[in-house]
Amino acid sequence: MATKHTAKQQTVLVGVTGGIGAYKACELVRTLMRRGFRVKVVMTEAATRFVTPLTFRTLTREPVATSLWADEPGDPVHHISLAQEADVVVVAPCTANVLAKIAHGRADDLLTTTVLATEAPVVLAPAMNVHMWRKDITQHNVEALRARGFVVVAPASGELACGDVGEGRLAAVEDIADAVEAEARRVHGLAGVRVLVTAGPTYEPIDAVRFIGNRSSGKTGYAIAEEAARRGAEVTLISGPTALPDPFEVRVVRVTTAAEMRDAALTAWPDTDVVIASAAVSDVRPARAYVGKLKKDALPEAIELERNPDVLAELGALNDGSRVVVGFAAETGDPVAEARRKLAAKRCDLVVANDVSGELGFGTDANRVIFVTATAAEELPVMGKRAIARELLDRVARIRSERLGT
Ligand code: CTP
Repeated sequence: MATKHTAKQQTVLVGVTGGIGAYKACELVRTLMRRGFRVKVVMTEAATRFVTPLTFRTLTREPVATSLWADEPGDPVHHISLAQEADVVVVAPCTANVLAKIAHGRADDLLTTTVLATEAPVVLAPAMNVHMWRKDITQHNVEALRARGFVVVAPASGELACGDVGEGRLAAVEDIADAVEAEARRVHGLAGVRVLVTAGPTYEPIDAVRFIGNRSSGKTGYAIAEEAARRGAEVTLISGPTALPDPFEVRVVRVTTAAEMRDAALTAWPDTDVVIASAAVSDVRPARAYVGKLKKDALPEAIELERNPDVLAELGALNDGSRVVVGFAAETGDPVAEARRKLAAKRCDLVVANDVSGELGFGTDANRVIFVTATAAEELPVMGKRAIARELLDRVARIRSERLGT
């Protein structure tokens, strides 16, 4: 597993694009270096019209990359090495154009190619004219980026280079550096921690082709598994049937039924520090599964059901307090009260309650959730599943370090 070690000095890749705020990137570079980071700079062609590569080279004492076609000696795939070397990437200033390109996954220069190739967290600090910033297409791009887990440090208000007054100025350098530092801290926040995630639905067979299941897409659990791996955790993902590809650097155990999920979870339990049960496990299964496909004339009038094991409750019961256990609760009533009930019944440290009465929830990319513990209920704004995964793992890391007294 490609984990980087905490002791090593962390590298921040600063991407500079062609806006008047480019000169402030010099101050950002100095601030990040003062805070202990190794800093490398990538510039777009347009950025070099505002500040010269030599300026950044002098500040960082590192080569400054500006083109896909001018490699560092001995490095034929520069965008990949830069992408891998970075613990955090920050683009400041980020023009409307580069923001749009990143939002759409375009990669037509060294900077956007590196942003697409990196697995490191990416902080964007947009700066542009107020009307460009307020355009719904720009706002849409910002929302899409945030939903995908990019950190966007919103621009500040004031007098702009073009003479207009409004929001669009590059955020304060200290604020951008704070956002970078917060991401850098997260990067190794789960180094070596063994995380078990359950995800997706379970299918309970009626016969060879029919089953009882539900509409869970598995997206939340996969996002959690991927994000945990990115933070250095050793992740086992026990997944019911989904259409999703295996996340990188994650051990995936594919199962079909609740009974199989339980067996896989109990097998993994002894080597687990954190459990996150996001699976929408079917509560019941047909009491008997027919061999082969039943002809329609042979279909029974009623299907007798029996209860499935509760995977989370079984793991919670095994917990001697050394593990962190997180459950989910899909609610249409009073989410906090119900989540608290499940928290106690299944011996969880935290329950993620989500309101599935509206259009958000199963199969959607965004969700509104409440993090419920024995003492607090923290309601988060509507956000993408990746962003929810990040928030959740921040809380998990905090609970774990409180528990370990670190
Ligand atoms: N869970 C589980 N095994 C089950 C049922 C649920 O592991 N057989 C876990 C889910 O992964 C989730 C939590 O328990 O973390 C959900 O609990 P549940 O009591 O099923 O809540 P809801 O799905 O919200 O359903 P209900 O309110 O109807 O009880």
